[in-house]
Amino acid sequence: MQKKEQIYEGKAKKVFATDDPELLIVDYKDDATAFNGQKKGTIAGKGVVNNRMSNALMRLLEKKGIPTHFVRELSERETLVKRVRIVPLEVIVRNLSAGSFSKRYGVEEGIPFEMPVIEFSYKNDALGDPLLNTDHALALKLATAEEIGIIRSYSLQIDRCLQSFWGECGVTLVDFKLEFGRTADGTLILADEISPDTCRLWDSATGEKLDKDRFRRDLGGVEEAYAEIMRRLEAHAE
Ligand code: TMP
Repeated sequence: MQKKEQIYEGKAKKVFATDDPELLIVDYKDDATAFNGQKKGTIAGKGVVNNRMSNALMRLLEKKGIPTHFVRELSERETLVKRVRIVPLEVIVRNLSAGSFSKRYGVEEGIPFEMPVIEFSYKNDALGDPLLNTDHALALKLATAEEIGIIRSYSLQIDRCLQSFWGECGVTLVDFKLEFGRTADGTLILADEISPDTCRLWDSATGEKLDKDRFRRDLGGVEEAYAEIMRRLEAHAE
């Protein structure tokens, strides 16, 4: 697959055109940002971990019937994906309290929920990705009611599948963020990435954080945490 011009550069990835208009190449960087880009840094080897992990998890989800953008891993940092128009909703699924949930509602981190909590943010850096509900998303025409129904249903299925996978790795899936996109024919598929940048992953035995919170919160051992979570995944992925 011929890598052609760069069409987009985000905080953690570059996206390139290919000779097929329906396919793109994603190239994962080691750059890390937090707090809407206010904090910047580098996590050596992160791009390789995020590329490999995201691909392994998307392959797993495909097997469970969730359509994803994943086509083929091209190298340790590059993957061929289906071109989509991203639905401008960040879908957050929470199984335990943490992060902005704990802050907003004044509860400690680590309280398990009886049911997963689904939350939407408006994907808009200029506004700081504000939280919104389904009515807001419909009023802003970010997605149709049917699409939001499909997104909720896929997100819950993904949560069950990933909780079970990470459980076998001795890891608690605390929360994560998903993005969906529409292909040329309007089909909704899972896009973006599933990685330690977009998930909270805690060692089930010790509670140790094995994700980007180590960078966000200056906890140290950032590279080691990315390497450790990759080791856990590779010990379990087929
Ligand atoms: P939050 O508790 O800060 O809202 O984050 C919830 C989850 O979403 C957490 O697993 C990290 C992930 N996330 C992203 O992937 N991108 C973001 O920009 C933010 C704020 C969170």
